[in-house]
Amino acid sequence: MPVITEIEDLKRIYRRRVPKMFYDYAESGSWTEQTFRENSSDFDLIRLRQRVAVDMSNRTTASTMIGQEVAMPVALAPVGMTGMQHADGERKAAKAAEEFGVPFTLSTMSINSIEEVAEVTTKPFWFQLYVMKDQDYVRRLIQRAKDAGCSALVITLDLQLLGQRHKDLKNGLSAPPKLTPKTIANLATKWRWGIGMLGAKRRNFGNVVGHVSGVADASQLIAWTSEQFDLTLDWNKIAKLMELWDGKVILKGILDAEDAKMAADLGADAIVVSNHGGRQLDGALSALRMLPSILDAVGDRVEVHMDGGIRSGQDVLKAVAMGAKGTFIGRAYIYGLGAMGQQGVTRALEVIQRELDVTMALCGQRELADLGRQNLLIPEDFE
Ligand code: FNR
Repeated sequence: MPVITEIEDLKRIYRRRVPKMFYDYAESGSWTEQTFRENSSDFDLIRLRQRVAVDMSNRTTASTMIGQEVAMPVALAPVGMTGMQHADGERKAAKAAEEFGVPFTLSTMSINSIEEVAEVTTKPFWFQLYVMKDQDYVRRLIQRAKDAGCSALVITLDLQLLGQRHKDLKNGLSAPPKLTPKTIANLATKWRWGIGMLGAKRRNFGNVVGHVSGVADASQLIAWTSEQFDLTLDWNKIAKLMELWDGKVILKGILDAEDAKMAADLGADAIVVSNHGGRQLDGALSALRMLPSILDAVGDRVEVHMDGGIRSGQDVLKAVAMGAKGTFIGRAYIYGLGAMGQQGVTRALEVIQRELDVTMALCGQRELADLGRQNLLIPEDFE
């Protein structure tokens, strides 16, 4: 086992282990990637206030997200095609999250189906929904998530069409990979990954293939999906979808105070301030930078979570001290998964928790609830 002390270590191994097209799929943003880069670099602009001579014993990173107890306020974000990064990827990530005590969110675009993840977990996970034109399909997906005991529906609002990612187009990315000379060359470079995939039970999108008539394999799926995102999605439709779900609803992909107010008016349990990890509207400001105005706009009316650019426990602490009740991580756990499967996801969570815990102590805080802007040095022009 290599010595892993930071998320960057996992990323290095991940890069060596998976074919370039899958590394590029995760490690990219849309167009110039400005928003993707700033999601991370904006965390560096926020500095921490060191405090001394305060009792640092009996610390805890425990908290709640939408009323559920969490070992730390960090959920695994929905990530499409996770099962292409590592065989059985969604199941492995879900198990790591469950054992650690943080929520796992299964993407609509997963390789393992909702049922397959439910099979190997004992606690409820969260299900992320993309709103599709085929309403029957959306209703069936919601029903399947209910039947599997999912405890929250995360509706993603910022991907009704795809922000162009140059690398994916240039790599000819599809899942499972279409075998052209170029993709064969790409995949063949990573034989260890290939062996893992050969052993994988399924390489199709379990939430779609077999559940939509006319979609029998993943290449048809790509065509179906690209036609399916509902461009007419509006707040009325979101309200109707929310009625179909009896439990908690999280609206993800909100980056503007006006939209946040709408989400609060609809009665969402939480929102995720997010720009989809810089994969959609390039040129948008980072999620961290938009967080304060959104918190001001909604007050206590809705729980506010955020994601984008989190690569350490210090980043989590900064988001929480700014006022977020919870955070999500995407790439930080995908690096771990691609590097070493379930163990790698666990390691990513351990690294983040340790950094969060020690940073809390050095800031003179023992509980996350006591963290606030008093712990931060925020540049005047940040908000
Ligand atoms: C995503 N994200 C995403 N979001 C979503 O709602 N459904 C999805 O299927 C996906 N798929 C996806 C794939 C990949 C490879 C990435 C990197 C991201 C966005 C994700 O949930 C989250 O918002 C970002 O990943 C957060 O940014 P960081 O933590 O990756 O910087």
